[in-house]
Amino acid sequence: MSWTREQYVSGILGPAWRAPAVKEEAEAFCPSNIALIKYWGKRPGDLNLPLVSSLSRSLGEYGTHTVITLAKADEAEMNGILLPSESSESRQIFAFLDLFRAWGEKYRVVTRNTVPTAAGVASSASGFAALLSALAGLKGWTLQPREMSMLARLGSGSAARSLWQGLVLWHKGEREDGLDCYAEPCGAPLPDFDMAVLLLKQGRKAVSSRDAMRDSLATSPLAAEWPVRQEAHLKQALKARDFKDLGAVVEENAVLLHEVMATAETAIVFDSSATVAWKARVREWRAQGMPVYFTQDAGPNLKVLFPPAARGRIAQALSAAQVDYLAV
Ligand code: PMV
Repeated sequence: MSWTREQYVSGILGPAWRAPAVKEEAEAFCPSNIALIKYWGKRPGDLNLPLVSSLSRSLGEYGTHTVITLAKADEAEMNGILLPSESSESRQIFAFLDLFRAWGEKYRVVTRNTVPTAAGVASSASGFAALLSALAGLKGWTLQPREMSMLARLGSGSAARSLWQGLVLWHKGEREDGLDCYAEPCGAPLPDFDMAVLLLKQGRKAVSSRDAMRDSLATSPLAAEWPVRQEAHLKQALKARDFKDLGAVVEENAVLLHEVMATAETAIVFDSSATVAWKARVREWRAQGMPVYFTQDAGPNLKVLFPPAARGRIAQALSAAQVDYLAV
């Protein structure tokens, strides 16, 4: 039988579980991350155990800065705005803190994203990693980064990968108790690359990644194929020593992910017309000999990958195409 979240958290924290804070206030920063080989799909249970292992790269200074303070009542502020207590963001923050709360303890959480909102770069990953890291400071926990990653996962799966900079590998693990499911820095000597996050037009997301994940894997005819091909993509990516080999498999993985969604019983499509046009443009640039590939998450923005040596040419091409972007 799989563990409850409380059993899991108390198992990791031991006597520190639900112990009172040792400080009045603590703060932390964690970077956002972009998956090169995607996490998509959960195993049964409440522990956010992924169906597949995944590989990401963190975004340096772009992420979430969080301050947590002991307070008289729970309240959360995000990017300078007080969140209504019934908002989904506020509920998610305090449902996560409830897993660790000492009796009667209340928190004020002030969080600021350093990624422009329009970038559509997962702020839940850096958000939960930073919230957990700040809480660890407040509580005086002495956990290994691996254990922090196992706890951050309960907030949002991809948060497991936001505790480090650079390349991060999240192992899906096999155990039902989730204790072998953690992320760590990826030691594979992958070729160096740069990324540009294209700031394409943003609509309000029609579907959350959580719902899209559940519904697409429950109904797409490609659902059974996904974990098998995804695992092959991951192996291929980890072996890549040449940028083109890495770029090709990263793009293939993102394309497959979006095919899984598009073939769901109710098709889930995150592309805007700009997304479609930019995918074609990236392929066209490649046909002209430019070393450039894309990846896409549960949103319309594309992230473009290229080797550092191509930086000048890509910057020129992007500015000629008059697109705003974030260089990461
Ligand atoms: O961590 P979640 O539940 O927001 O899911 C993230 C899903 C993707 O961003 C599409 C893929 C990934 O590995 O980050």
